[in-house]
Amino acid sequence: MPGNIIGIDLGTTNSCAAIVEDDGNVKVIPYRGGETTIPSIFAIDDKGNELVGYEAKRQWLLNPKRTVYGAKRLVGRDFQSGFVKKMGEYFAYDMKAGNEGNVMIGLGNQEFNLQQVSSKILNTCRTVASDYLRRPIGKAVVTVPAYFNDKQRQAVKEAGDLIGLEVVRVINEPTAAAMAYGIKRNLNQTVAIYDLGGGTFDVSVIDIRGRTFEVKATGGDIFLGGIDWDNALIKYVIDDFQAKHGLDLSTDPIAMQRIKDLAERTKIDLSARTEAPFSIPFVTMTPEGTPLDINTVITRKLYEEITEPMVKRTIEIADMVIKDAGITVAQLDEILLVGGQTRWPAVQRAVLEFFGKPPSKSVHPDEAVAIGAALYAHSLETDAVDQKVQLLDVIPMAIGIERADGRMQEIFKRNAPVPNQKSLTFTTSEDDQVELIMRIYQGDNQDKAQSNELLGEFTFSGIRQGPRGSVKVEVVFDCNVEGILTMSAHDKNTSKQMKTTVKVLAAK
Ligand SMILES: Nc1ncnc2c1ncn2[C@@H]1O[C@H](COP(=O)(O)OP(=O)(O)OP(=O)(O)O)[C@@H](O)[C@H]1O
Ligand SMILES: [Mg+2]
Repeated sequence: MPGNIIGIDLGTTNSCAAIVEDDGNVKVIPYRGGETTIPSIFAIDDKGNELVGYEAKRQWLLNPKRTVYGAKRLVGRDFQSGFVKKMGEYFAYDMKAGNEGNVMIGLGNQEFNLQQVSSKILNTCRTVASDYLRRPIGKAVVTVPAYFNDKQRQAVKEAGDLIGLEVVRVINEPTAAAMAYGIKRNLNQTVAIYDLGGGTFDVSVIDIRGRTFEVKATGGDIFLGGIDWDNALIKYVIDDFQAKHGLDLSTDPIAMQRIKDLAERTKIDLSARTEAPFSIPFVTMTPEGTPLDINTVITRKLYEEITEPMVKRTIEIADMVIKDAGITVAQLDEILLVGGQTRWPAVQRAVLEFFGKPPSKSVHPDEAVAIGAALYAHSLETDAVDQKVQLLDVIPMAIGIERADGRMQEIFKRNAPVPNQKSLTFTTSEDDQVELIMRIYQGDNQDKAQSNELLGEFTFSGIRQGPRGSVKVEVVFDCNVEGILTMSAHDKNTSKQMKTTVKVLAAK
C-alpha cells in the first residue's frame, strides 16, 4: 500500500516534506529545480495574488510590507507579549491584535491570523508532494519545536484543518531528527540533538533502543535561531551607518529589506570564509538628495564577537538538559547537529568543546527533521509490527493551575513523560456552588502562575447542589502523546460528567 501520510517539517525559514515510498525508502520530496526545501514565506503581490515559497521570496525586496516570514515565531502567541513586540521591530509587515488577543497580520486590505499563514505554507508542501506522487494527500505528520507549548501545538493542528489537511500527529523536531538517524540501525545509544534552525533552538537527550525512542529531557528557546544572527548583523550595519552619516535606515522598509537580505547572505558566506564585503549601492539619500551607499567589510571575527552571547546561551541550555536527563556529557554516545545555523563555525567549535567529541556525520542538517516525520508517518500506517516505532516523549515546560495565592500548582512537571494523566479532587468551598473555574498555565515559574503562558480558563459547570464541602469534583488532566492538554471533570460520588467550557484569554 503506498504511503498516504507525508512528513512535513514546518520551519521558521524553510519547510520540507518527505514520504516513505512503496519500496520502503524515505524520499525528500523535490521541488521544481530540485530544491528540497521551500522558503516559509507568504506574500500578497500588488495585484492581490497569493505567493508562497520561492515566488514569495523572489519579490520580498520590493514588497517587504506584504511579505510574511518568520511567522512560526508568532504562532500561538499573544499580541501583548514582549516577544511579539520585539519581533515587530524586525518584521516589516503590520501586526495588530485580533479579537482573542492573538496576532493578526495586515497585508494590503486583507488580514490573516498566524494559523492561516502557516496553512498557506503547509498547503504548498502538500501540493508539491501530491504533484510529485500524483495522488491527493490528505494527512501529515507535522513537526514542531520541542519547546512549543500546548497553544502553539494546537495552532499547527488548526492550520492543517483550515486546508483540509489532517495533522495526524504533531511530533517534536529533535525527536524526528533522532528517528531519521536511528530508525533502521538497531541501535542502543543515548544521543543529544542540538537543533539550531532559523527561528528556534532545541536540545533533546534521547535513548534509542532499536525502534523505541525515549526522550529523557528537552529544553530550548523558541526565540533563538538564525534570524537572531541576521538581526545582530543588521543592527551593527545600521548603527555603523548612523555613526558615519547621521541617518537612521531602520525606518525605511525597502532599505531594511535590502540590508536584511544581504545580512543573511553575508552570514552564510562568512561560515566559509573569514571576511566578506557588505555593499549596498544607493541605499538612501541625504536630505540634500545625494545618494549614499553602504560600503563596508564584515569579518568573521567581528560577527563572532557580536553573536557570542547566543552561542553561549545554546550551550547553557544544553548543559541544563543533560543535567535534567540525569546523565553526564561523557555518557552520550552521539551528538546530532540539526538546523542550518549549526553550519556557523563558532557553533561547531562550541559544540565540540562542550560535548568533547565531533558530531555525527550521518544526519543531514536540513532534511533530517522531515525524514524523521515521514518515517514516523509510515510507522503509524504500516501493519508490519516489526516496523512500528515506539515514541515516548516529554513536555518541555510544566503545566499547572493558578492557586488562590497566585502561585502555580504543578500538574505535570517539566520533562514529564507523555502521554500522561493526572487527577485532582476539589471540594466545593461555598454552599450550592454551581461551577468550578480554573486557569491553566504552562511554564516553569512556580512562584507566579501569571508569568507563564495562559493556556485557557476552564469552567466546569453543573455541580450538584449541597452545603459547602459536601461535593467532591474530580478533575482529570490528560496530556496526549503530542503534548496537547484536554481536561474533564466529574462528580466523585455520582460519576456524573460536568460540562466543560474553555475560554482562551489574552495573558496579562
Ligand atoms: N552556511 C550557513 N551558515 C550559517 N547559517 C546558515 C547557513 N546555511 C543556512 N543557515 C541559516 O540557517 C537558518 C535556516 O535553518 P533551517 O532551515 O534549519 O531552519 P528552519 O527549520 O526553517 O527553522 P526552525 O527549525 O528554527 O523553525 C537560516 O537562518 C539560515 O540563514
Ligand atoms: Mg528546523
